[in-house]
Amino acid sequence: MSSTAVTLDKLVALCKRRGFVYQSAEIYGGLNGVYDFGPLGVLLKENIRSTWLDSVNKFGEIVLFDGAILGPEEVWQASGHISNFSDPMVDCMQCKHRYRADDIDLNKACPHCGNKQWTEVRQFNLMFKTQLGAASGASSDAYLRPETAQSIFINFKNIISTNRVKIPFGVAQIGKAFRNEITPKQFLFRVREFEQMEIEWFCKDAESLKAFEDWCTLRRSYYDTIGLSADKIRMRQHAKDELSHYSRQTTDVEYEFPFGWKELEGIAHRGNYDLTQHSKSSGKDLGVFDEETKSTYMPTVVECSVGIGRLFLALLADAYCEDVVENEPRTVLKLNPLMAPIKAAFLPLTKKQQEPMEKLYRDIKKTLGITAQFDESGSIGKRYRRQDEIGTPLCFTYDYDSENDHCVTVRNRDTTQQERINIDAVAEYIRKALRLRT
Ligand code: GAP
Repeated sequence: MSSTAVTLDKLVALCKRRGFVYQSAEIYGGLNGVYDFGPLGVLLKENIRSTWLDSVNKFGEIVLFDGAILGPEEVWQASGHISNFSDPMVDCMQCKHRYRADDIDLNKACPHCGNKQWTEVRQFNLMFKTQLGAASGASSDAYLRPETAQSIFINFKNIISTNRVKIPFGVAQIGKAFRNEITPKQFLFRVREFEQMEIEWFCKDAESLKAFEDWCTLRRSYYDTIGLSADKIRMRQHAKDELSHYSRQTTDVEYEFPFGWKELEGIAHRGNYDLTQHSKSSGKDLGVFDEETKSTYMPTVVECSVGIGRLFLALLADAYCEDVVENEPRTVLKLNPLMAPIKAAFLPLTKKQQEPMEKLYRDIKKTLGITAQFDESGSIGKRYRRQDEIGTPLCFTYDYDSENDHCVTVRNRDTTQQERINIDAVAEYIRKALRLRT
């Protein structure tokens, strides 16, 4: 029997217990909306990054970029973030609790103290502002980037003139972004410091609608590849009044989180808004010369943008299962093997079998280059449970018979079925079971 009774509380507890995610600065009381990723969390993030890159590379010519996090005020003036990147905010006059005005009903009492006295709704800019160096004044103002995209736009000329790329092509970037969210919430869903994976696809305007559709198709298929349940994903087109200041058309990839359908990724037709704005503001023409028409034009941009943390949360929520095995309840992460942080575990039945199992573990790591764990502590049942909880697809056990028959037992995480295979066949078995390319 299995169930998917997943709640946010269960995910938060599992992430802490197994070393995926910790509240940042926890020993000092924690920093709201900021998280640290532990050893298994880092491995899962690595799998998210590499599968994303593999997928976007299939679209066409893609180059990589890694821009600075700090940007001068002019960048954010030109991009429209200083005037437009804000959320409506309201305070309770009684208890001083602060809310996003679109998150609560102002006709009702404050959910915190029960009074109904609200301040005016004000716009709150979400960017973190800081000063560079010791001098204070407007010229030293800088901002932590609220999206990675702008660093690509302001480097567009550099990228195109120093690389053998021609329109259409894309620039992919994975990096940190920061937003001073009024109410960070739902664990990794809305946080103040996060990582984005963004692709800016530069093309001619006439080809942009087709490119937009094709990107929507590719991005949708990515979520199948990494194993998210198809019935928990949907594509939703933005109504005109929802569009961001730069967007001509946007489609969100939405996922059904434990707290409802929410945006996982945004796919936006940005027109030539950003390149035009930065050309005007910097005085540097970011247009491209067209050999065919012998004239200069501003490329059009299609953007796909997804937060790693949000996808991390979707993957865990999707994979989380509780079932009963041999009359014992168990929690298991049924992650697609591609995404599993640890691909295989090597478990000697008792301390006596430690040496040959440790050798097999080291050989497999060397041969396949996969992430694996060697675990000799606790009962075998406990060790299986530990691996189930972190989503390890395969566990190998060396037991009393192994010395004689030169075989180990392999246990499948999802079915808990066990079979016996020759030690010399373990590498091939893993390769096939995990569909490794090595
Ligand atoms: N460059 C376009 C852009 O930044 P966005 O819809 O504001 O668009 C894109 O953000 C994606 O970044 C979202 O779909 C989400 O996955 C992620 N994201 C945005 N704000 C976030 C936050 N506060 N916490 C976690 N992820 C966030």
